[in-house]
Amino acid sequence: MTRGKGKRKAVELTEEPKPGETSTEIPSSKSKKAKPDVAPETDKVVKKKIPRVLLCFTGSVATIKAKHVIAAFLKRPCDVSVIFTNAAKKFIDVDEVMRMKEENFTLKPNGVFKGVFTDDTEWRNWKTIGDLVTHIELRKWATHLVIAPLSANTLSKMANGLCDNLLTCVWRAWDFDNQRKKVFVAPAMNTAMWKNPFTGKHLASLTGFPFNVQIIDPAEKTLACGDTGVGAMAEPETIAFRVLGPVAE
Ligand SMILES: Cc1cc2nc3c(=O)[nH]c(=O)nc-3n(C[C@H](O)[C@H](O)[C@H](O)COP(=O)(O)O)c2cc1C
Repeated sequence: MTRGKGKRKAVELTEEPKPGETSTEIPSSKSKKAKPDVAPETDKVVKKKIPRVLLCFTGSVATIKAKHVIAAFLKRPCDVSVIFTNAAKKFIDVDEVMRMKEENFTLKPNGVFKGVFTDDTEWRNWKTIGDLVTHIELRKWATHLVIAPLSANTLSKMANGLCDNLLTCVWRAWDFDNQRKKVFVAPAMNTAMWKNPFTGKHLASLTGFPFNVQIIDPAEKTLACGDTGVGAMAEPETIAFRVLGPVAE
């Protein structure tokens, strides 16, 4: 990913370091290794037609399924980049996800796993004026913003325009005028949180004009906390199907 036009010096955006490394460069569209599919989407130009999915995980216990969610997307032709919030990292070993990327997973996927990004990445990439701003680059790159699971906390921040981490900054900078850029959320929370009036109020404020967020409803079952009711994240395959459609035969 690279910056748009301008006189600022060329800088590479880096993702989370691989286990045992300090940083990993994402190929720049201006570098010799450039590949057209990693160039950011400018507001007018889409260089490659396959979807570029920014798959985000928040501090819900359903983030333990992160690898399954990523794998479900990779079964389809798409590029996938991943964001973990700080709370999400309590539920998944980010190094394990990085290894999954290195192995390009076991399912002979049709998709390409591009990189993993966190709040640490954002600040590692930006040290001084002229450096890349990760949330802006990811916002330009992505055609689909998918938050699965969506926590009650991030939902409430989205509904109120708060932007205090990488994920909510991408959301706050999202280009709602571009109809090709889609946002999907799969809420997952304890059934008491789900039934709280704030949940319906916040979800209602995200659907319809101008945000047009598509909600992938949670399922009813016995949750990780032992309570039974609505609040479990939809199945990974259900989420990938809603966003990208069926797997090609
Ligand atoms: C064990 C545990 C499980 C949790 N599960 C959920 C959950 O499923 N859904 C949710 O909305 N919050 C859940 N939370 C609370 C969130 O982690 C907390 O609100 C956090 O601040 C969310 O941060 P984020 O939205 O930035 O990811 C859980 C907390 C703990 C300690």
